[in-house]
Amino acid sequence: MCGIVGYIGNKQAYPILIKGLHRLEYRGYDSSGVALINDKNEINVYKTKGKVEDLEKYASDKDLSGTIGIAHTRWATHGEPNDSNAHPHYSQSKSLAIIHNGIIENYAIIKKDLIKRGYEFKSDTDTEVLVQLIEHIKEKNNVDLTKAVQLALTQAVGAYAIAVIEKGNPNQIVAARKASPLVIGVGDDEFFLASDATPFVEYTKKVIYLNDEEIATITRNDEVHIRTISDVEKTPELKEIEMSLNELEKGGFPHFMLKEIHEQPKRIAEAMRGRININHDNVALSGIIDNKDKFLNAKRIIIVACGTSWHAGLIGEYLLEEFTRIPVEVEYASEFRYRNPIINKDDIVIAISQSGETADTLAAVELARKKGAFVYGICNVIGSSIPRNTDSGTYTHVGPEIGVASTKAFTAQVTVLALISLTIANMKGSLDKKRYKELIDELATIPAKMEETLKTNENIQKIAPIFTYAKNFIYLGRGYNYPVALEGALKLKEISYIHAEGYPAAEMKHGPIALIDAEMPVVFIAPHKGMYEKTLSNIEEVKARKGRIFSIVTKGDNVVSKVSDYSIEIPETEECFVPLLATIPLQLLAYHIAIMKGCNVDQPRNLAKSVTVE
Ligand code: M6R
Repeated sequence: MCGIVGYIGNKQAYPILIKGLHRLEYRGYDSSGVALINDKNEINVYKTKGKVEDLEKYASDKDLSGTIGIAHTRWATHGEPNDSNAHPHYSQSKSLAIIHNGIIENYAIIKKDLIKRGYEFKSDTDTEVLVQLIEHIKEKNNVDLTKAVQLALTQAVGAYAIAVIEKGNPNQIVAARKASPLVIGVGDDEFFLASDATPFVEYTKKVIYLNDEEIATITRNDEVHIRTISDVEKTPELKEIEMSLNELEKGGFPHFMLKEIHEQPKRIAEAMRGRININHDNVALSGIIDNKDKFLNAKRIIIVACGTSWHAGLIGEYLLEEFTRIPVEVEYASEFRYRNPIINKDDIVIAISQSGETADTLAAVELARKKGAFVYGICNVIGSSIPRNTDSGTYTHVGPEIGVASTKAFTAQVTVLALISLTIANMKGSLDKKRYKELIDELATIPAKMEETLKTNENIQKIAPIFTYAKNFIYLGRGYNYPVALEGALKLKEISYIHAEGYPAAEMKHGPIALIDAEMPVVFIAPHKGMYEKTLSNIEEVKARKGRIFSIVTKGDNVVSKVSDYSIEIPETEECFVPLLATIPLQLLAYHIAIMKGCNVDQPRNLAKSVTVE
């Protein structure tokens, strides 16, 4: 949560920082600000409540000169979103300015001590406490900025990615991280730093990923120097990233979410490329094959994830158990990490995360590794913390997902879980060859079937306005489609603010049925596979109570569609791959309802794309 960006070089910093903030706005968008060192070597801080465009308006008549600066877009943790809590924060004497993503957990104790020493605070944030502490240490010990940051961080408990600049020192930014992402872009005579590489992708592809408890001193016309908090010097490792600018633009779509929904056929094909062979008789994931013994001897797989990634994990449970016969448990990472779980050496823990930075999932990974499990990551963002902290893994390769509501990352996670299940099944011999090939053949057709599914967009757009009246929705599915119901409900909740619940369809009778009346929309995922007849009975039960039925059916179905008020057809596929298609109309339904209600679908209220605090 929160996006941070910094620049030092020959160009004017402000336009680069503002563009960078716009790209990071998906990480938080309740207030934003910038700090620049001008030609007189003074620090100017401009910050305001609201989005980055509000900051631009606010700063338009100010002194925006300077070739060094730091900027921040906030998702509030400590202190309500207002002008004074927005970052950057000055230190007492205004000689330092800081931006911060994370939480300093022991800020209250440090603050109390600083107040005793005469420090005054202008905000309610933990971040201001940190910058005051750095200033205090710097003055008391007469040390340079890097040393003062280092000493201050030895006292700080919590998570942080910070950048600090100093009045009279226009040639240096000091940055540090622990459990919050930070990447340094290395250009020709210029440096960038940011929460991810998107703010500087058009300037450089060379990056240095800072590791936990490392401090970087970034000096104009010099190399980046890295030391740990415990004062060990580190050699920066330069890496090359693959990312193109048009991946960060809307490409003619009105919103990133709609673009990302429509990208799914292409992205899913990319997620399979090089992993399914040309004859469709082999699936090979190097992360699995290189660790064959671990997977062959695994007694149990535990999947940990949050939100949409957790829903993908639930589908993974069905896939892995059906094809590999290895028992699977799926856990919310936030629960797993605190309940002292039993983890054995022959357990495999799979962590799923689009961002690769979700604090709870990362903590679950660390716990599992400490307890001796082999930990495998399924992530999208290359070089993010989870892939760097797992034993092995598979990238989903769907490019940057910018819409806060996850769409293409979800279907790619499910695709990767299908590939993992098939790879293990083949190694174990738990699936006969004929069936194995049939499944691969079918999986390879999914991108084309997704393309066909997307043609339902127009129809869904027409139906959506009918549902804007609704205050509640119920989503129901069985088997593989139960997690699809959960995911459909989450999409609707997060972008349209309509309360929605997903249930296994058979659970309806155990309570939720009491909610059904003529006002209640009920979405059924009812493909012509699996428990079709049983789902049909559940539909009849809703119909009998006058619920308004919206169903996802297999092309040509004329039974469920007859009972439904509205139905959307998807192409026929194997039961285990239905989620890859059935999710799409639910993404579109949420999108169009939210648009009809005038909601900001790419940046829904209170949310952030990357949840780097617990
Ligand atoms: O980056 P991650 O996949 O670890 O993120 C997990 C959740 O925060 C995320 O899926 C969230 O639920 C999305 N807003 C869903 O659309």
